[in-house]
Amino acid sequence: MLLLVLYVVVTLTGLSEGVGVLPDDHLNASVGGSVIFITNMNSTDGPFRLVAWYFGTDDNLIVNSQPTVNTTAPEYEGRITLFSSTGSLELRNLKLSDSGEYTVTIISVEGLRKSGFTSLDLYGKHT
Ligand SMILES: *[C@@H]1O[C@H](CO)[C@@H](O)[C@H](O)[C@H]1NC(C)=O
Ligand SMILES: *[C@@H]1O[C@H](CO)[C@@H](O)[C@H](O)[C@H]1NC(C)=O
Ligand SMILES: *[C@@H]1O[C@H](CO)[C@@H](O)[C@H](O)[C@H]1NC(C)=O
Repeated sequence: MLLLVLYVVVTLTGLSEGVGVLPDDHLNASVGGSVIFITNMNSTDGPFRLVAWYFGTDDNLIVNSQPTVNTTAPEYEGRITLFSSTGSLELRNLKLSDSGEYTVTIISVEGLRKSGFTSLDLYGKHT
């Protein structure tokens, strides 16, 4: 049963690859380094009604940005930069535990919802 659920999740995830606002469906980065998830939004498209980034299969909030309120999860405080014109996200001081799936939802001022999906692999220093 669990395997079936996992299979469905993987399948649905697979379907969303290569579509949406994130052109790169996979990125690699080093522990201690940084990465920028670049959207394919035009810088004239933003600022948006909503930009929300989530991490992991449980969709834990990283940052939720709206014109009137911005929420950054405590564990990302000070190590992210959200680019308001494109919705791109920079993540710094990378840890091994940052490996995983990232999802973004963007809602334009006109109310159009777009989303994107990518995954990140972290590589440690060889010792
Ligand atoms: C990430 O690393 C894997 C394994 O080394 C490699 O196959 C893949 O091409 C890399 N992807 C990118 C976007 O660099
Ligand atoms: C972004 O939008 C501007 C104004 O609509 C347009 O001139 C420009 O070509 C667009 N750039 C891209 C990369 O789509
Ligand atoms: C939230 O962040 C966005 C993008 O950086 C900014 O345009 C907006 O003014 C911020 N809003 C508040 C209430 O800080």
